[in-house]
Amino acid sequence: MEKINHQIGVGSLIISDKGRKYVNEVLDNNRLSYGPFCQKFENLFAKLHQCKYSILSNSGTSALEIAVATLKEAENWKDGDEIIVPALTFVASINVILQNNLKPVFVDVDKKTYNIDPKKIEDKITEKTKGIMVVHLFGHPCDMDPIMELVKKYNLKMIEDSCETIFAKYKGKSVGSFGDISCFSTYACHIIQTGVGGLSLTNNEKYAVILRSLVNHGRNNIYLSMDDDKGKRDKELKMVMDKRFSFERRGYSYRITELEAALGLAQLEDIENIMKQRRKNAQFLSNSLKKWEEYIQLPTIMDGAEHSFMMFPIVIKTDKIKRDALTLFLEENNIETRHMLPLTNQPYLPKLFGEDIEDKHPVAKNINKNGFYIGCQVDLTEEELAYMVSKFDEFFTKFV
Ligand SMILES: Cc1ncc(COP(=O)(O)O)c(C=O)c1O
Repeated sequence: MEKINHQIGVGSLIISDKGRKYVNEVLDNNRLSYGPFCQKFENLFAKLHQCKYSILSNSGTSALEIAVATLKEAENWKDGDEIIVPALTFVASINVILQNNLKPVFVDVDKKTYNIDPKKIEDKITEKTKGIMVVHLFGHPCDMDPIMELVKKYNLKMIEDSCETIFAKYKGKSVGSFGDISCFSTYACHIIQTGVGGLSLTNNEKYAVILRSLVNHGRNNIYLSMDDDKGKRDKELKMVMDKRFSFERRGYSYRITELEAALGLAQLEDIENIMKQRRKNAQFLSNSLKKWEEYIQLPTIMDGAEHSFMMFPIVIKTDKIKRDALTLFLEENNIETRHMLPLTNQPYLPKLFGEDIEDKHPVAKNINKNGFYIGCQVDLTEEELAYMVSKFDEFFTKFV
């Protein structure tokens, strides 16, 4: 096919009529700080995950950082305590552990799903292990049953980094509803996108109070929004007034505005269509690229799992093909790609975890070398999808 004259990205931004309407309502309300849209977005997100509490913050990273900080405070973890993490993930997953003065302990990932390999976790559990952070990568849930068994057996806490995976199910249960705290991102190119944004979910009231406080400079929960003194009088009002500047812990300024919440709410209300279209696009790509399975591993969907396809991951299976030759060819033809979240080969890792950090996790190492992804976002047209496939066809026919 002729080279297309615009770039097919790994994501795209669609602001629906409803999104525009909600944003205009925010402007008409003349209110940016935490208010009705933030509340509606949080409440609907919690409800869709059958979760009691939902706390908005300004990124998936901050959601994760306060999740770890909350568990550290509530469960009396000490500096240097250990959290199990996959050896393949976005750097933020481990940065938030380090920033809380805890130690990430890496476990290699599964060859097919690219998520943490449950069989390799138990060997890494020590007296200092306090929790497991699973990361549902690329839209596919982790294999939660064996992981939850370990959580129970060793009395650990579970944090779900679900920043890439919203509304994917594992055995009928949504990702984000397994963890003591689960975290999501609504950054650009994610399944729900608000520019910047994140959410933490929990069913534990004590954790919810700390999470909300941490987002707000460590404030006492009695006064977190300008509505919290409305309708109060006498002693009750005096109490709120006294606590407006009452800081109970060292916190962060991780709040978000009504504008992001308005955009998020509009997309959340349309989530079924969004997921349907992503899955349809992914299905088309999988069916059409199947003929090249000798060379490339296409996304696997584990039994009992649903995939939400934040992206379409591919791993080269043979030495006959260099990942970089294929991705360069695709990019030269206006098809954007990204490497598949390389972590253990990042320049700052060996300094902290030793020169052999990449070699110790061979499956992740192989993905660092051979993995990449392309987009499968909602608004890809039939023509764009066919074009993407035609460029794979051209590459494998001409160059292999
Ligand atoms: C697995 C994972 N965790 C955390 C994050 C951080 O989210 P944010 O960019 O909203 O801080 C990302 C971002 O893409 C991610 O992919």
